[in-house]
Amino acid sequence: MTIAPNPLAEVSRLLSRAHTEESHDATAATLATVDAAGHPAARIVLIKVIDASGVTFYTNLESRKALELEANPHAALCIYWPTLHKQVRIEGEVEAVTEAEADEYFASRPRGSQIGAWASQQSEPLASRRELVSSYLKAQARFAGQAVPRPPFWGGYRLIADRIEIWHNQLYRLHDRFLYERQVEGEWTERRLYP
Ligand SMILES: Cc1cc2nc3c(=O)[nH]c(=O)nc-3n(C[C@H](O)[C@H](O)[C@H](O)COP(=O)(O)O)c2cc1C
Repeated sequence: MTIAPNPLAEVSRLLSRAHTEESHDATAATLATVDAAGHPAARIVLIKVIDASGVTFYTNLESRKALELEANPHAALCIYWPTLHKQVRIEGEVEAVTEAEADEYFASRPRGSQIGAWASQQSEPLASRRELVSSYLKAQARFAGQAVPRPPFWGGYRLIADRIEIWHNQLYRLHDRFLYERQVEGEWTERRLYP
């Protein structure tokens, strides 16, 4: 296994392979955040874009993860593609995507998911499932016969990667680990780590 020169291009290439070869949603990644007290939390999000600057995901901007990211923008994403036998770790700081980007992605979502975004106060306590369904039906009635706008409390974050590790499974646990670190000028350096 040789080290590819550009880690984000390599992760993007692996994601394309994972789309065809993995049986589960290949875009699922564990997002780790840290709260103001330094306590970590992790949950899955779906990666929507990988480009030269980083990795974009979307969420409720009043959710626990969003509040943690507002207090501390340092975050990490971890992806495992079991069929490809690969793990990818991406670390850096998040920035909010632009309103235009969020609008464009929101508009591409199925109508039911758009209404669902209005219906959920993500991470807040919910008395019953009935309350959630009723909130969905209210939003459905509110936007009947018109396009569903993006809620002001819904948007995206881009993890600007400064450290990426690609792990390839090998025999006898002698795995290949390639660590990439972004330098001040923006270029990447790469080296191997012991498995
Ligand atoms: C396969 C899968 C994909 C998910 N994708 C997203 C996502 O893209 N955005 C999101 O906000 N939550 C997503 N979730 C739900 C989150 O894991 C989490 O439950 C939710 O965002 C609340 O997290 P928080 O309270 O830490 O903010 C997904 C869950 C699973 C299992």
